[in-house]
Amino acid sequence: MTDFPPLKNDLLLRAARGEETERAPVWVMRQAGRYLPEFREVRKSHEFFEVCRTPALATEVTVQPIRRYSGLLDASIIFSDILVVPQALGMEVQMKEGTGPHFPDPLVTPADIEKLSKVVNIQKELGYVFDAITMTRHALKGEVPLIGFCGAPWTLFAYMIEGGGSKTLQKAKSWLFKYPEESKQLLIRIADVCVDFLVGQVKAGAQVIRFLKLPFILGPHLEIQLLQIFDSWAGELAPHHFLEFSFPTLQHISTGVRQKLAVEGVPIVPMTLFAKGANHALPLLAQKSGYDTLGIDWCVDPAEARRLVGDKVALQGNLDPNLLYGGRDAIEREVKRMSEAFKGGKAPKAWIANLGHGITPGVDPEDLRWFFECVHKYSAAK
Ligand code: CP3
Repeated sequence: MTDFPPLKNDLLLRAARGEETERAPVWVMRQAGRYLPEFREVRKSHEFFEVCRTPALATEVTVQPIRRYSGLLDASIIFSDILVVPQALGMEVQMKEGTGPHFPDPLVTPADIEKLSKVVNIQKELGYVFDAITMTRHALKGEVPLIGFCGAPWTLFAYMIEGGGSKTLQKAKSWLFKYPEESKQLLIRIADVCVDFLVGQVKAGAQVIRFLKLPFILGPHLEIQLLQIFDSWAGELAPHHFLEFSFPTLQHISTGVRQKLAVEGVPIVPMTLFAKGANHALPLLAQKSGYDTLGIDWCVDPAEARRLVGDKVALQGNLDPNLLYGGRDAIEREVKRMSEAFKGGKAPKAWIANLGHGITPGVDPEDLRWFFECVHKYSAAK
């Protein structure tokens, strides 16, 4: 049985449950990444997906920012990538130096859907992520909670059709408009894999306990304490197309994960949705998506976002990542502003401080430290 050290810092979990906190919990998307020299050192001798697939390496890079920013960071996120789901569906994905992900054999027409695996054995295909999660939970020694994640179906669908990054998403959008029914079927199929993958992350090594039919003792043994879904390309869709093609799959995931966890007697963990650029949909996402926290980018003002979502959900975000290149004065000024806008002059309630998207490779790690220090200072209850 996996026995994890008790959690010493539950700030993130309290904020995600909508509670008031003494200050805002803080973490940043892509916090294990190339801006850290210790990460680049690991990458010198190990290819990107090799790091993802080797639990000891994934654990090491997950823990790197926690070690460096000891006492300043309130969450860790398991080192992996959203593209492990297309891999589990049978597609080849390479990570190219400088240009990012590359699919040598992308989906060109709906006939290519036949090439995907009919049934995905999550344990067999992605068991390495679960092993990395178990190992990381031990390495973290209860310092901070561990976040699990996956990509949203629309974002994954776009990668699988474009074959990599794209400025226009012309191919993926052509599918939506030319083959809407086939597209929807594929999107839901991806969503089903996401559900199994997320449920697997929450349980990871806890199967032994289930076997003993003692689900009630699972609580302290859960591996993943919060889940986040990244819909990085949500904002590329017109509002009505987001509603038609992405939103139903996001709901499918939140409902599916909750149902499966309930059936298995596993406690439900808070879920975050980061639908980048879909700020137009904030009221609907707050009411109907089924997520506890909504991540927002920097294109919406925090006070306006709070007005749009009401009191139902927590908010996460939203500093423009490029501010980390703006020098310490700019970082301090903007964190102060962001804190005031999220807090509205009160103690922070249901706010998780973060950037509005992932941190980029050129940031000075000491400037990120300053960002954390400013969040601690300006988000504190007065
Ligand atoms: O946040 C974390 O620290 C956890 C790890 C994580 C990575 N990717 C590691 C990574 C997470 C949560 C992701 C999510 C991810 N991956 C997203 C959604 C978030 C977002 O940024 O929109 C997307 C779209 C991807 C796909 C992906 N993976 C791209 C487009 C790239 C290339 C980008 C680049 O900066 O070159 C990756 C590679 C990747 N994933 C890196 C890291 C640290 C850098 C690659 C390297 O080490 O060479």
